[in-house]
Amino acid sequence: MKQYSKRLAAIHWLTLLLFIAAFYLGHELDETEAAAAKMALYPWHFIMGDLVLILTLIRTYFLRKDGKPAPIEVGSAIANKVSVGIHHLLYVLLIALPVSGMIMINTTGVIAALQAHDAGKLPDLEKFAIHEVHAAIVAILLLTIALHVAAALHHQFILKDNLLRRMMFKRFDD
Ligand code: HEM
Ligand code: HEM
Repeated sequence: MKQYSKRLAAIHWLTLLLFIAAFYLGHELDETEAAAAKMALYPWHFIMGDLVLILTLIRTYFLRKDGKPAPIEVGSAIANKVSVGIHHLLYVLLIALPVSGMIMINTTGVIAALQAHDAGKLPDLEKFAIHEVHAAIVAILLLTIALHVAAALHHQFILKDNLLRRMMFKRFDD
């Protein structure tokens, strides 16, 4: 087997899209001052973030069921270890980030304000350490994704080993 299963590839690219949506909405929330606008944005941010979590959990199930393709041959033993380490870190962060968001909304009163439909009850999140934790995980995840994408592009265009094929839906026989 030289490629990830079609469903693992689908989950990979869908996670990328949902991550971009969740990141954009989180950033908008951070920039928005008006409480009423925040009330409208929150649910969308939570839905996108929770979908990332659900997809990641489904992914771990299919990873066990479908297995992974063997590492590419051009990679050295150390490069393979680093790549596996980065992939594991991505999974940990993709779970830790939405979980920290869920802890934040349940412990700071955001959920209570949404349930009461009362923008006046929204807490000042800057005062809570969990807000810093969520933002810090975002920063670490962005850095890890940057390394991951740089490595993927290095393989594809410098080493020219067709690494991207491993994550495509189309099946290749070679
Ligand atoms: C992939 C998943 C997620 C991503 C990429 C993400 C991203 C972000 C970003 C970029 C911010 C702005 C951070 C800052 O203040 O500097 C943010 C804020 C926040 N996120 Fe998330 N988040 C995710 C999941 C979640 C989930 C699942 C929840 C809750 C169920 C959540 C709740 C919040 C809350 C309450 C804020 C504070 C918004 C404000 O300042 O009013 N996040 N998120
Ligand atoms: C343009 C952006 C991206 C490209 C080109 C890309 C490309 C790839 C490729 C080619 C692989 C297979 C690597 C191998 O066979 O060793 C892979 C695996 C992986 N990617 Fe991405 N990726 C991108 C974005 C992302 C993002 C945003 C995330 C997470 C938020 C992510 C998470 C992962 C994970 C966890 C794996 C490991 C799969 C496994 O073996 O369990 N990727 N990616």
